[in-house]
Amino acid sequence: MVTISPALLDRLSTPLKIGSLELKSRVFQSPLSGVTDLVFRRIVRRYAPTSMLYTEMVNATGLHYVKELPRIMEIEASERPISIQLFDCRPDFLAEAAQRAVAEGADTVDINMGCPVNKITKNGGGSSLLREPEIAAAIVRAVVQAVSVPVTVKTRIGWSDSEINILSFAQLMEDAGAQMITVHGRTRAQGYNGPAKWDWIRQVKEVVSIPVIGNGDMFSVQAAVDCLEQTGADGVMCSRGTLGYPFLVGQVDHFLKTGEELPAPTSIDLLECAREHLQALFEYKGIYGVRQARKHLTWYAKGFPGAAELRGKLAVIENVAEGCEIIDRHITYLQEITDNSHQPLVQIGA
Ligand SMILES: Cc1cc2nc3c(=O)[nH]c(=O)nc-3n(C[C@H](O)[C@H](O)[C@H](O)COP(=O)(O)O)c2cc1C
Repeated sequence: MVTISPALLDRLSTPLKIGSLELKSRVFQSPLSGVTDLVFRRIVRRYAPTSMLYTEMVNATGLHYVKELPRIMEIEASERPISIQLFDCRPDFLAEAAQRAVAEGADTVDINMGCPVNKITKNGGGSSLLREPEIAAAIVRAVVQAVSVPVTVKTRIGWSDSEINILSFAQLMEDAGAQMITVHGRTRAQGYNGPAKWDWIRQVKEVVSIPVIGNGDMFSVQAAVDCLEQTGADGVMCSRGTLGYPFLVGQVDHFLKTGEELPAPTSIDLLECAREHLQALFEYKGIYGVRQARKHLTWYAKGFPGAAELRGKLAVIENVAEGCEIIDRHITYLQEITDNSHQPLVQIGA
């Protein structure tokens, strides 16, 4: 059973203000490259009606050279509040990209200063900006000047254990005009390994007055509550915990608003969601969507009888009909072996 202190429930009961924007939810669905496309976000939105969503990160230089809007910047009015996330190291290109993001309807523009991938950092983007704080500040200043919506930053605690500079970096971002900072409690060198060091999030909260969002290891409602209790953060952002589990943001949000846990989805709920995800990806992206769906389907297939074997089959599907048939067969199997197919899963989250 998840527990929360009355003091925390009370602290979170007011809307969260990001500059001029007022949010009814303090739980965020993180940007996830290759995952948080329109199809995924529509599913998350169903369970989390007021939480902030993010697009996948968009390359500002790439955008500068194309007139046509890339698919990853496509957003719908029903998705709001939504942020378009940009990455790059050029303030001018980022400012221009931010204007296009706002023209598309973005409620905030988020600058990625945390991506650890070599391809991005060697070009000066993502987490390499932690080593170039003055460039990072120039980026924020340029983007703030270019758009009227709030500009936010998502970053890590530093480049490596010997280069943890998040406290001065966060202050610099605030001084440059950032209206919110999301802190992933890992260094670039950590990648996604080892526990997120939430204590740095607590310390950031002490040195800036803009909202601070905690990120890293938010795999369950309990983890989100623990992070908020331990850090004093203004909100939390869920990431890998949502892979194959688009219910998480909604579950955390509901708990923070009511102090009550929503029933966990059953294995059948998960598989029905997987099937819908597959069909929607095909409708949106054609056969490429089916290829992309393979990883999603294997993420959904966890924590119930026969899941390992099912993952093996779903990882190699060639078309929608094949995927749906495999899923439907497994649903029938689960119904046969359980008295009550709607028994909640024991294992939820990751
Ligand atoms: C597959 C994948 C894609 C990601 N893509 C992005 C991205 O586009 N932009 C971003 O800021 N962070 C991205 N991240 C980082 C996550 O948003 C988050 O900061 C990180 O996973 C830490 O949270 P967690 O430990 O709860 O997963 C990505 C992470 C993963 C695993």
